[in-house]
Amino acid sequence: MKSTSQPLENFLADDQLSKAQILELIALAIEIKNNPADYNQVLAGKSVAMIFEKPSLRTHVSFDMGIAKLGGHALYLGQQNGKLGERERVSDYAKNLSCYADAIVARVFENSAIEGLAEHASVPVVNALCDLYHPCQSLADFVTLAEIFAKDDLQDLSKVKLAYIGDGNNVSNSLMLMAALIGVDFTLVCPDGYGPSQVMLDKVQTLAQANGSVFKFTTDINNIGQQDAIYTDTWVSMGDEDASMKETILKVFAPYQVNHSLMDKAGASIVMHCQPAHLEEEITTALFDDEEKSVVFQEAENRMWAQCAVLTTLLGN
Ligand code: NVA
Repeated sequence: MKSTSQPLENFLADDQLSKAQILELIALAIEIKNNPADYNQVLAGKSVAMIFEKPSLRTHVSFDMGIAKLGGHALYLGQQNGKLGERERVSDYAKNLSCYADAIVARVFENSAIEGLAEHASVPVVNALCDLYHPCQSLADFVTLAEIFAKDDLQDLSKVKLAYIGDGNNVSNSLMLMAALIGVDFTLVCPDGYGPSQVMLDKVQTLAQANGSVFKFTTDINNIGQQDAIYTDTWVSMGDEDASMKETILKVFAPYQVNHSLMDKAGASIVMHCQPAHLEEEITTALFDDEEKSVVFQEAENRMWAQCAVLTTLLGN
């Protein structure tokens, strides 16, 4: 596939991408998924260093296996080196890894660590989740939405209506930024006090207006409106755990649980979740396991193809 957009240098935050770059990545992910053999030498002789400050199942495995499918080599760096910036400076970490690796994938606590890595590395850096963004997840989710709602023409993606219900977090930030960039109507429903920052809301609103889509933020679950897809994520993200808050969180978020009755009310045909799911909290077991409506494992698989598309774009010739 011939690229017509600006070359990608890193993959750090959704709003650092253009609409054309996102659509090309989605199309490439689907192309690699359909024809993996055509891409099995894209990373031949190349190595990717993967830093994980936080636990991971899908991200770790999908990067590792995806890199193998592209003919490359992945190295997992767990928490043995402690928090980034503690044992040695983030800049030194980035410069050292750049001596050996052709790309750096990092899951970190703070976005500033991702930015520091990208600033000082001489190789591309991929954000594998931080406190503010989870762009690999949002890309995989739009690949999934494209497969379901825009099979014949990727442009149909902009007709999808997507709602996220729950905690305003890294996953919702990335989803709403990507939605706004590609012109997808997005409704964000969070309990009062659990929404994103005003800076993030303003950024999304500006992008949505520029791309002709509607972005709505509400704390009233009855304002959910009509949707094609409903998305939810944990009410407490990694790094935010505070046992003393658990009771309050369960109480405040209870009306925001995603279940069959909410799906019916919104007329939504699919439910999405980045996982891990906290069953009977943000989503009912019955809905999570509903094979007609739940696309959670399609999303999980698409993590791998989306990331293959990112690495192919960053490192392929
Ligand atoms: N918001 C969640 C996503 C996990 C994939 C977290 O950061 O823990």
